[in-house]
Amino acid sequence: MKKEFWNDSVVVITGASSGIGKALLEELVMYPCQLVLLARRAGDIAEPETKHKDCVLHRVTCDLSDPSSVQDAIEWTMKRVDRVDVLFNNAGITAHGRFDSLTMEVYQKTFATNFFGPIQFIRGLLPLVLKAKGNIVTTSTVSALYGVPGRAAYSASKSALHAALESLRIESLLEGIGVSLVCVPYTDTALRTSGLTADGKVLAEAPAKGKRKSAKEVAQVLMEVAKDKEARLVTFNLSGKFLEWMRFFSPKFLEKILYKKLYNDFKTH
Ligand SMILES: NC(=O)c1ccc[n+]([C@@H]2O[C@H](COP(=O)([O-])OP(=O)(O)OC[C@H]3O[C@@H](n4cnc5c(N)ncnc54)[C@H](OP(=O)(O)O)[C@@H]3O)[C@@H](O)[C@H]2O)c1
Repeated sequence: MKKEFWNDSVVVITGASSGIGKALLEELVMYPCQLVLLARRAGDIAEPETKHKDCVLHRVTCDLSDPSSVQDAIEWTMKRVDRVDVLFNNAGITAHGRFDSLTMEVYQKTFATNFFGPIQFIRGLLPLVLKAKGNIVTTSTVSALYGVPGRAAYSASKSALHAALESLRIESLLEGIGVSLVCVPYTDTALRTSGLTADGKVLAEAPAKGKRKSAKEVAQVLMEVAKDKEARLVTFNLSGKFLEWMRFFSPKFLEKILYKKLYNDFKTH
């Protein structure tokens, strides 16, 4: 019988206290595996009601925007697990505001959380991922595929992450690891109440209009991607594919559409 992929695996989830990361946790606790759960509020992560008896949870309090906290989390993890089969690089924040209204502190905080922290963390745990010939699965966004209006800091931080992880993927071509970037569409989570306004206050915005995925649906896709070392850039739906292709075929047309579709988003910020 084929071994279930997740059985006996060591899985790291950043941003496991809310939204997509929490949904990953709720799916994965059904397997006999070890889960390393990172977040600033890791201490508040409750034991799920239904859980496999041999699933072990390790909670690690970590602020990705603070290099010393990230270093502590790396050392803590390395003392407790001897390999990493899947690293879900999932934690992140959004920042809403026009290019010229976002303060430099907001650009820096967004990059600290979405780029420098994840890079430091992945870099630190890379020996354990290499040892397992594991997978690094990043929860990214279609906003990483093109600079989206009203999201300069968010788009830039996520697309910088794409570039760095693509470099890693090529450099480790012969090492047997997977590095994938999953561009998630609008999903029902706390993202719009946990991010930053242009001047650095906590965002309090209504959910995006139109169709949204549930965190569970997204978690299930991320888990499938984690099984596929050939997965590179994954988009979910037509709007993701549209952005992916139009940036090459007709950026002018794409920019007009983004201007019109997101006008209210950036004119009001
Ligand atoms: N929701 C969407 O529509 C959507 C679309 C595309 C991509 N995404 C991406 O999905 C990922 C997960 O976000 P979500 O939608 O699930 O939002 P969420 O509900 O706000 O969850 C974000 C998670 O990231 C953690 N986090 C934030 N800042 C952190 C920091 N400084 N250090 C450590 N952990 C931190 C949070 O934990 P603590 O607050 O406890 O630290 C939380 O667990 C993000 O990378 C986001 O960019 C979301």
